[in-house]
Amino acid sequence: MASCCTRPCHGLVYFTMSVVLAFIAISTSMHSKPEDPMSPGKVVFNELSLNVSKALRRAGFNVMATLLQVSPEIFLSSPNSTIFAIQDLAISNSSLPPWLMKALLQYHTSTLNLPMDDLLKKPQGSCLPTLHREKNIAITKVNLVEKSIEINQVAVSHPNVFLGETVSVHGVLEPLSSLDPQDVHQGWNIIQAPICNSMSVLVSEVLESKNMVEWSWIVRLLSSNGFVPFAIGLNSVLDGILEDYRGLDSVTVFAPPSLPSLTSASPLLKRTVRFHILPQRLTHQELASLPSGTFLTTLVPDLHAEVQGATSFGQQLVINGVEIVATDMFSSKKFTIHGILRAFEVAEPPDTPA
Ligand SMILES: *[C@@H]1O[C@H](CO)[C@@H](O)[C@H](O)[C@H]1NC(C)=O
Ligand SMILES: *[C@@H]1O[C@H](CO)[C@@H](O)[C@H](O)[C@H]1NC(C)=O
Ligand SMILES: *[C@@H]1O[C@H](CO)[C@@H](O)[C@H](O)[C@H]1NC(C)=O
Repeated sequence: MASCCTRPCHGLVYFTMSVVLAFIAISTSMHSKPEDPMSPGKVVFNELSLNVSKALRRAGFNVMATLLQVSPEIFLSSPNSTIFAIQDLAISNSSLPPWLMKALLQYHTSTLNLPMDDLLKKPQGSCLPTLHREKNIAITKVNLVEKSIEINQVAVSHPNVFLGETVSVHGVLEPLSSLDPQDVHQGWNIIQAPICNSMSVLVSEVLESKNMVEWSWIVRLLSSNGFVPFAIGLNSVLDGILEDYRGLDSVTVFAPPSLPSLTSASPLLKRTVRFHILPQRLTHQELASLPSGTFLTTLVPDLHAEVQGATSFGQQLVINGVEIVATDMFSSKKFTIHGILRAFEVAEPPDTPA
């Protein structure tokens, strides 16, 4: 039997990387148009990828150098680009499925060519577009005195590994998105991009709560599984939730198939959506183990959710008089979503002082 060495298991690492490389090579060659390998554009492209790859290898980024050599299309598909290369140790033992590996590499490539000097000129909090669909990376720290910079709270350890007319390469200490194998195995899209909008201050604040609830994923799951009105409602009040609950790291969502028709600006919509969310993750089993009559805190301070135990005619658990019809429909380490028969009835807010 093959046995693993006592130190990092090189055999396994090598195997994982070869599978990934093979996949990337196959998937990219299938999508690229047949092209004359001797056309002037192709020659420059090949020379450029070779030059970048050599520079990476010289700086000790062997894995990234190999990936770039095998699949330059992934990194150099934009007219201008900046590649944030991940150090060997941080990438070689990650056992990501190939599609996720590709997404991760695209997320490490910005579509702007930014040498270190240009990066330092950007205000803290600015976002940079990447090749990974609409997901941005953010400049979370700029220190002009030390000429140092952090992207998504990861230090740029090797500035200007390569500087070209259209491409810059910098080395980073860690991947710019968490690579929790647990999340990967559960099939979640784990590229957790910072939230970028005009309020750049918000970016670093949101990033600071490292264990962010995966809200965008929750909204997508709901909307693609028939809970469209609630998904829209949640999406429209999300900014407020992020602002009021900064440290929130897990939630339970009770998703109704529809919502009373409310306009998006209505305070009642905010109240209604928040009433369906608990600031902790409780699976069906955990809920069922609570004594009937237990009141749970919701995201509305003056409204509690009452656990009423199983009904006499079925095994379903009842919350606020409404049956849970689909238990733990979707869940991750940070959230669980239960489908409920209809929306909870929400009392008007207590009178606000005039
Ligand atoms: C690649 O490097 C060589 C030698 O340094 C240089 O002459 C050439 O112009 C470079 N090519 C590209 C496309 O950067
Ligand atoms: C690439 O960068 C150059 C110089 O910075 C700029 O003139 C050009 O418009 C850029 N191309 C694209 C497609 O963004
Ligand atoms: C990679 O290996 C190192 C050392 O063996 C370990 O500390 C680290 O947690 C591993 N990383 C992953 C993503 O498994």
